[in-house]
Amino acid sequence: MMQTQILELLYLLASVSFVLGLKWMNHPDSARRGNLLAAVGMTLAVFGTIFLAGEGGSGMSNKGIILLGLVIGTAIGTVMARRVKMTGMPQMVSFFNGMGGACAALISILEFREMQHAGGVEHAIELVTGSADGGSAMKLLIIFAGLIIGAVSFSGSIIAYGKLEDKIKDRVLPMQQLVNLLVFGGALAIAGLMVGGQLEGTLWLYITLGLALVYGILFVLPIGGADMPVVISLLNSFTGVAAACGGFLYDNNVMLMGGVLVGSAGTILTVVMCNAMNRSLTNVLIGNFGGNKGGAAAAKSGSGGTIREVSATDVAIMMKYGQKVIIVPGYGLAVAQAQHVCHELEELLEKEGVEVKYAIHPVAGRMPGHMNVLLAESNVSYDKLVEMEHINPEFNTCDVVLVVGANDVVNPAAKSDPSSPIYGMPILEVENARQVIVMKRSMKAGYAGIENELFYQPKTGMLFGDAKATLTKLVNEVKTL
Ligand code: TAP
Repeated sequence: MMQTQILELLYLLASVSFVLGLKWMNHPDSARRGNLLAAVGMTLAVFGTIFLAGEGGSGMSNKGIILLGLVIGTAIGTVMARRVKMTGMPQMVSFFNGMGGACAALISILEFREMQHAGGVEHAIELVTGSADGGSAMKLLIIFAGLIIGAVSFSGSIIAYGKLEDKIKDRVLPMQQLVNLLVFGGALAIAGLMVGGQLEGTLWLYITLGLALVYGILFVLPIGGADMPVVISLLNSFTGVAAACGGFLYDNNVMLMGGVLVGSAGTILTVVMCNAMNRSLTNVLIGNFGGNKGGAAAAKSGSGGTIREVSATDVAIMMKYGQKVIIVPGYGLAVAQAQHVCHELEELLEKEGVEVKYAIHPVAGRMPGHMNVLLAESNVSYDKLVEMEHINPEFNTCDVVLVVGANDVVNPAAKSDPSSPIYGMPILEVENARQVIVMKRSMKAGYAGIENELFYQPKTGMLFGDAKATLTKLVNEVKTL
């Protein structure tokens, strides 16, 4: 009895830690603390369940296997998290998310079989067809919801992982949308018939699982280019909902709560990113957009023209004798691991009396908050990081914009070229500054695979080279001037 109360208390503490943790993740200042708190809450919930749940509060009966699984999973997770580069985070998030989806689907399979052995499935069917207490029928419904959502999330996330790792290419099947609809509709129809008692047997459960897995693949396969983050966040919310189904099945409040929080946080992030990239959620849901448009658009918009190359000395002079410099960090800064030297340059310029700010685009880099995390790592003060909508009106008061390894997020085609795949995506309006310096290694395109007119504008100077090496050069130049 006492054990049950302790367990309830642990679950309550865990639930509070999830909510507070999420709240703290709102700001880079408190994000680490938030992550740690939620992890502690999760640990309490997991160990509480293992040792205090079950008959008479004596814990799970198969503790040995569970603990072995925990040790193996923890070891794999720790190694992966330690090894992953900041630029590879979206892949890892996608992979881990897929594992969550797989867990939810497996729970559904096990619970279905459990119900079958106990004669519960038949009972549930009778309940649906009759009009008695709907408890078991509800359970069957939740089992299928968890199965379908979890399976879609698993296969979709693994495809997203493969695409981000460049192991799987974007592919659009003939009549893709119709096929998607048929496969998904088929899974729903079989699940509906099973819950309604018209179909019976484990085979149909596995057919539903198969269709859901295929749908996950078909759903993500055509999506590419700049739209991937939306998909990952959407799949994340699916996994949350599938986990919440598990919470219902086990009548476990903390699992339900965790699932609902992941589901809602993922949905909110999806909507925020859709807005940031100007994609409608409907578009995402029917798998109707993709980076594969990028190639064609790139070929069309290949503007050529002349560029103006500048030297590190020119740029150092411009910045040192300017009054206001805005740095636009992008994916290239992350790849080059140039955040520390970038911060050094900022401090140096500030000492010379130059005002320096960072312009943060919501999808700069390869994951939500990528630039905030990187710059926080090098101790850039948070008040210097200015979000897109607040910094855009400031560009016309700025002497030099230094674009470090960013491309798509400063591409004016998003505003001016309706045929561009990024048309409509809000961008950092750097062209309003007096001088624009773009630091990158070549004239190659960014993530969306398209040309950037900004590089050919008269006020733009191209400073070619690796971001870290070039920023180091700039620091030295500013010091010696
Ligand atoms: P990108 O458009 O990807 O451009 C990055 C640029 O950095 C490239 O053009 C590349 O040019 C340059 N670069 C690469 N390595 C470099 C190095 N070592 N030193 C200097 N420059 C280097 O980046 P962005 O402007 O940050 O835009 C992000 C893109 O990724 C958007 O399209 C966004 O939608 C997409 N995306 C975002 C997310 C999230 S949630 N943030 C997730 C997935 C995808 P060179 O090769 O010529 O050097």
